[in-house]
Amino acid sequence: MSLFNVYPLNPIAITKAAGSRVWDDKGQEYLDMYGGHAVISIGHTQPHWVKRIEDQLHAIAFYSNSVVMPIQEELATALNNISGKKDFQLFLCNSGAEANENALKLASFHTGRKRIVAFKKAFHGRTSLAVAATDNPSIVAPVNETDNIIFLPFNDIAALQKCFAEQGTSIAAVIIEGIQGVAGIYETDDAFLQAIRKCCDDFGAVYIADSVQCGYGRSGQFFAHDHAGVSADIYSMAKGMGNGFPVGGILIAPHIQAKFGMLGTTFGGNPLACAAALAVIEVMQQDHLIKAAEEKGNYLINALKNTEGVKAVRGRGLMIGFEMEAGLEDLRKILLNDFKIFTGEAKPNVIRLLPSLAISMEDINLFLTGLNKAIQVLKQKKD
Ligand SMILES: Cc1ncc(COP(=O)(O)O)c(C=O)c1O
Repeated sequence: MSLFNVYPLNPIAITKAAGSRVWDDKGQEYLDMYGGHAVISIGHTQPHWVKRIEDQLHAIAFYSNSVVMPIQEELATALNNISGKKDFQLFLCNSGAEANENALKLASFHTGRKRIVAFKKAFHGRTSLAVAATDNPSIVAPVNETDNIIFLPFNDIAALQKCFAEQGTSIAAVIIEGIQGVAGIYETDDAFLQAIRKCCDDFGAVYIADSVQCGYGRSGQFFAHDHAGVSADIYSMAKGMGNGFPVGGILIAPHIQAKFGMLGTTFGGNPLACAAALAVIEVMQQDHLIKAAEEKGNYLINALKNTEGVKAVRGRGLMIGFEMEAGLEDLRKILLNDFKIFTGEAKPNVIRLLPSLAISMEDINLFLTGLNKAIQVLKQKKD
């Protein structure tokens, strides 16, 4: 049987990893500036994370959500503390799309309304409503098409206010990434998030902060939306939450009330996933990784801005996108093939850096050295 061929693959088999390094099946070492697509938050195979999952495996791996699970409560408290969202409630699931799916469904239940405001170039996942709220028709199947989603221009306060003035009483939720990731790393303006908060307050809609990629400390705040100084009603989380163990969740403001049967899942919140998520928070707190993301991100962004051949740099903390001048677009390929450095991409021409928040300064400088050398290679080819 063959694999269903949906991914354009790099012909590299990664079989081992530690910290910010990965190795292929031939023993070749690579520097990982991609973090397995923003998933690796505390470092590959981080020892405390491995041990906590291992210990949990020996105790109990799974039971259904029909019984009390103290480890879920432990995780909810840890999340309240690290996020500063003190009295928020936690619902656990398994992935980013599922987190957004539950957030949107919950907003609709809560308001009794159907319409969702999303933004141009947004990415919220590949399932039902999450993909309908994603601005990419090529991944929306006919069955997922719906008139309930309103796409507005990104960072356009006037368009947002006009939309609410015209149809605010039918809007259940506004969903927005704190930093658009798949689109190519575009920061949401603080004033725009403040305007979303106000429109939602004025019209009784739910503000959903999609923090799947930009959350969990990556931007230098626990949630990238926090930079705007206003709180959302629901935060969706996944990627960095488990450092590679599949886990997702939503943090829900106290005014949104639960009802039996409203949401549910078989695997969500299983003890192994909770152990992985707790290990991530423990390491983040012990090693001050959110502050580190801010400081290392500033250093990296500054260095990129001063690198010859780099045309534009965007992002915050360790969620960075940059574009190269004309003629140097092949950089990503050269970085991987000649300098053994993994980076991410966003179409058409953005290189995305999403390394572990625990990456060392030594590795950041190694990346910058490789980058400068790769640019020289490309310049020589161009001349
Ligand atoms: C902002 C955002 N939301 C949701 C998702 C979907 O997450 P998952 O792939 O875990 O379903 C992604 C994935 O890239 C994302 O970047």
